[in-house]
Amino acid sequence: MLCQHYDLQLEGADSAFSVDASNVTFGAGCLAEVGDIAKGLGMGRVAVYTDAGLVDTPHLAKVLSSLRAADVDVALYDEVRVEPTDESFRMATEFAVGANVDGFLSVGGGSVIDTAKAANLYSTYPADFLAYVNQPIGHGLTVPGELKPHIACPTTSGTGSECTGIAVFDLLEMKAKTGIASRTLRPTRALIDPDCTATLPTNVVASSAFDVLSHALESYTARPYNHRPAPSSPTLRPSSQGSNPWSDLGCAEALRLLGLYLVRAVDDASDAEARHQLMWASTLAGIAFGNAGCHVPHGMSYSVSGLCESFQPEGYPAEAPMIPHGMSVIVNAPSVFRLTAERSPQRHRDGARWLGADTDDVGDGEVGELLAGRIVELMQQTAMPNGLEGVGYSVRDIEPLVDGAIQQRRLLDNAPLDVDREVLTAMYTGAVSYW
Ligand SMILES: [Fe+2]
Repeated sequence: MLCQHYDLQLEGADSAFSVDASNVTFGAGCLAEVGDIAKGLGMGRVAVYTDAGLVDTPHLAKVLSSLRAADVDVALYDEVRVEPTDESFRMATEFAVGANVDGFLSVGGGSVIDTAKAANLYSTYPADFLAYVNQPIGHGLTVPGELKPHIACPTTSGTGSECTGIAVFDLLEMKAKTGIASRTLRPTRALIDPDCTATLPTNVVASSAFDVLSHALESYTARPYNHRPAPSSPTLRPSSQGSNPWSDLGCAEALRLLGLYLVRAVDDASDAEARHQLMWASTLAGIAFGNAGCHVPHGMSYSVSGLCESFQPEGYPAEAPMIPHGMSVIVNAPSVFRLTAERSPQRHRDGARWLGADTDDVGDGEVGELLAGRIVELMQQTAMPNGLEGVGYSVRDIEPLVDGAIQQRRLLDNAPLDVDREVLTAMYTGAVSYW
């Protein structure tokens, strides 16, 4: 635990943190174990969620044959929408209700895993759609009890969704991204097979790697758990509880691995070592942010992706304009860390060093610039968009972007500084372009 004033407990603040351990199996080829695991969890008939891009892949074939071998019945739903919406969550829920299953299985990226979480929630505890959605957009009601077992099998090295209790979606009528956050949504088991990343397009690897990078940096620099007001009851301690010694461990190692392997994994699909290490970094960062929570780069990303009108990245479905989650996050990150560094220079210095920057002879006042500069360097080396302009926005769009982001209180309140409209405006302004 770091000994510095920044981490000292504040009066009236929480004095403990909770560790929600993820139940993870990690290793090349482990998807073949899914049938036995499903059986062990008591699943007789399982809803398998995936998307159209994965339906003909060997990954799904391996999962289905393992389930068949274990005599587990399958109801296959292959219509998960990449970047899901309230409407697509509803459709996935209807499928679960009609399929009469006793368990859930997701094979895909964060969109697929989040969709299975939502389908599990709303089919188990039916409610008005906004009931469990985060405030202030939704009602933020507590989930009444445990959900059915869910095995998550991620096929991208990014979202960490297999280790978190968060499901993110676009609320269509508000053109806003928001989410549902509850410990009960965390998948029962995560089955992480790094072989799945061998066939991913370059741009998908890059975008998801920057999502990992930001998960780790945001969790590590989040408002410390012992600065957050104590909950009125221990059961109300949020999973976004702030930076804490448990999450710090995962953040440190994830950032070190990203510093070593991010560019290599993007550059060369045949570099199995780099892609496997990226998958492990993603797992560690997922465990970390599942217990600490993200903050402003993710809070800002929701309106960046929600207001997208024309951007169409390579390597993603071409049906409609979209900004992949990792890109919508990383375009904000350098600007945010420039401004948050003064709250905890040592933590920002650690982050820069783990990512490969030379931190010798850098004063506390220069640490924010150093970390921002290192992230920008990695973005340039992997052909990421140059800030907000790179994904189709200009300074004229800052006001609507702020309007959307200011609603993301769960994330903004986890930041190391107070975030109001003025701060958000400064952060978006600093993110317009970097080079
Ligand atoms: Fe993320």
